[in-house]
Amino acid sequence: MVDNNLTQTIRQLAADKHAVIMAHYYQRPEVQEVADFIGDSLALAQQAAKTDAEIIVLCGVHFMAETAKILCPDKKVLIPDLNAGCSLADSCKAADLKAWKDAHPDYMVISYVNTSAEVKALTDIVVTSSNALKIVQSIPKEQPILFGPDHNLGHYISQMTGREMAIWDGACHVHSRFSVEALIALKREHPDAPVLAHPECKQAILTLADVIGSTQALLNYVKSHPDTSKFIIATETGVLHEMQKACPEALFLPVPPEVTEGETLAPDKHIGCLCNECEFMRMVTLDKLYNCLLNESPEVNVAPEVAAKAILPIQRMLALS
Ligand code: 13P
Ligand code: SF4
Repeated sequence: MVDNNLTQTIRQLAADKHAVIMAHYYQRPEVQEVADFIGDSLALAQQAAKTDAEIIVLCGVHFMAETAKILCPDKKVLIPDLNAGCSLADSCKAADLKAWKDAHPDYMVISYVNTSAEVKALTDIVVTSSNALKIVQSIPKEQPILFGPDHNLGHYISQMTGREMAIWDGACHVHSRFSVEALIALKREHPDAPVLAHPECKQAILTLADVIGSTQALLNYVKSHPDTSKFIIATETGVLHEMQKACPEALFLPVPPEVTEGETLAPDKHIGCLCNECEFMRMVTLDKLYNCLLNESPEVNVAPEVAAKAILPIQRMLALS
């Protein structure tokens, strides 16, 4: 249940401290509701780049707060839970990327925004799921590309652009896990429902999708189809909150994850569960957000020498978006 008093207290505290609260679409509904701004990872970066607030509270995962800090080195950037990481970002360590890059000296490095600041510092252009296609298309055909860390997104972009890229073998543990069998069963049961999938999903899921796009693109599709009564959704279920608000009468059918022998789905669908929620995103709660604003901690900082390099590929992305 949402604590209205706490929500109001957080809003007042944010106003008193000239703080802006930004939340990703995968956040808990009550956190999305208290935020000044909600968006996908591109929109959060764009918003951070132009805010005049003194404090940015990033309700999302660590790389999102780092990106905000890199773009706004003079502002205080807070995250309600420092442990909110990302399995995809963790799948590419800076030292490993450096070795890959050294082995391919003529290649341009394109990195998904779901990476650490150190990885961004080794990158030529950052992309998000909203702009990866457009940015790869803008690069001269003869320029070889190292793309990382999401294998599924890289493969999808490679297919769409018809260009070969060397692709890192990383994945998001939530998006790579949707069950193909369950999706086929959902399609059979609801043949009129379009399938909306995030490009971090594996190829077998994307092949069955009607619409492939970033969190924002999938939400935009729902908003522009108010007469559609059912949608099958293959992405993190946090976005269903905004989708349901946009189309209150529609039925949203989330694709469940594959469950291997011996595993059981947690009934409460929260921390540590085997479900289509990102437990890192769900680490942020209203209580932690309140404490974070009150104490102005935990703060996210990026070493100045890393930030000085990492800002360049992010700015290139923003200029091309
Ligand atoms: P978006 O770029 O769609 O916001 O996705 C970010 C993310 O973490 C997906 O899992
Ligand atoms: Fe990272 Fe996947 Fe969570 Fe997105 S959903 S933040 S890619 S672990």
